[in-house]
Amino acid sequence: MIAHDGTLARLRAPFLLVTGGKGGVGKTTVAVNLALELARTGKRPLLVDLDLGLANVDVLMRLTTPRTLEDALSGACRFEDCVVAAPHGLFVLPASSGVADLAALDPERRARLASGLAELSARYDCVIGDSAAGIGADVLAFATQADCVLVVTTPEPAALTDAYGLIKALDELARTHGGDVPTPELLINLCDGVDQAELVGRKLRAVCERFLARSPRLAGWLPRSRAVSESVSTQRPFVLGSQRSLESHCLRSLAERVRRLFPSADASLAGLKG
Ligand SMILES: Nc1ncnc2c1ncn2[C@@H]1O[C@H](COP(=O)(O)OP(=O)(O)OP(=O)(O)O)[C@@H](O)[C@H]1O
Ligand SMILES: [Mg+2]
Repeated sequence: MIAHDGTLARLRAPFLLVTGGKGGVGKTTVAVNLALELARTGKRPLLVDLDLGLANVDVLMRLTTPRTLEDALSGACRFEDCVVAAPHGLFVLPASSGVADLAALDPERRARLASGLAELSARYDCVIGDSAAGIGADVLAFATQADCVLVVTTPEPAALTDAYGLIKALDELARTHGGDVPTPELLINLCDGVDQAELVGRKLRAVCERFLARSPRLAGWLPRSRAVSESVSTQRPFVLGSQRSLESHCLRSLAERVRRLFPSADASLAGLKG
């Protein structure tokens, strides 16, 4: 459903969009492991593959996906029929890979997807979206639906330039949407250590403060790690392995930050339990 002002339907559970300006910086790795960590620690998340033309959430988790978002968008089934179960009680809404037609949605299909997600989200207590790289119309549209936007970058100059470009594009979008796009949070991947992550986060934040009057916070970081790259090759997310590794520790900190970004969901959950 498209509202009169052209905005897309809001989800009924807190929605975190994992995105980034540059390809290959670790967006899917972060989205998959974050969603699993939230599920492992008691949340009921839905992980949605929003990299519609070149989806690979299912590949990173070795999931069998009888139906995908493509089927729901074509009207062959309902969105809920595409959802598959993953470890720790995580649910995944997969997309298709190599479907050029889905790489850029027309406004009608984008609105149908937004409306389908809004309806489906009522069954979960948070939604994590894994987006494509860049500043395409779909990524920007999903950001207008999001309660939190997590921009993944590496310390490399090209990745940082693209991260800034994305934050700038979101800022411009916010102005045309009456301020309704959150200031992104940052995740610095492939770091040598926490010092590098904090330094890179401070530099990017300073540029955003100077030129955009926005102050994106460092939500977390991940080390460059062989265990992480192996987990991608073996299709077994690293949070399912040792909890004592540095990358698992970093992921737990990120999940704690994300929980704090979703206060209303925790409060309503506590209310239900109490
Ligand atoms: N912390 C890390 N340490 C080592 N390798 C990593 C790390 N994070 C990601 N990688 C590697 O980087 C590659 C790209 O990761 P991923 O697919 O998550 O990126 P992406 O941003 O989602 O890419 P795309 O833009 O194509 O969707 C993977 O092969 C993975 O092995
Ligand atoms: Mg990806």
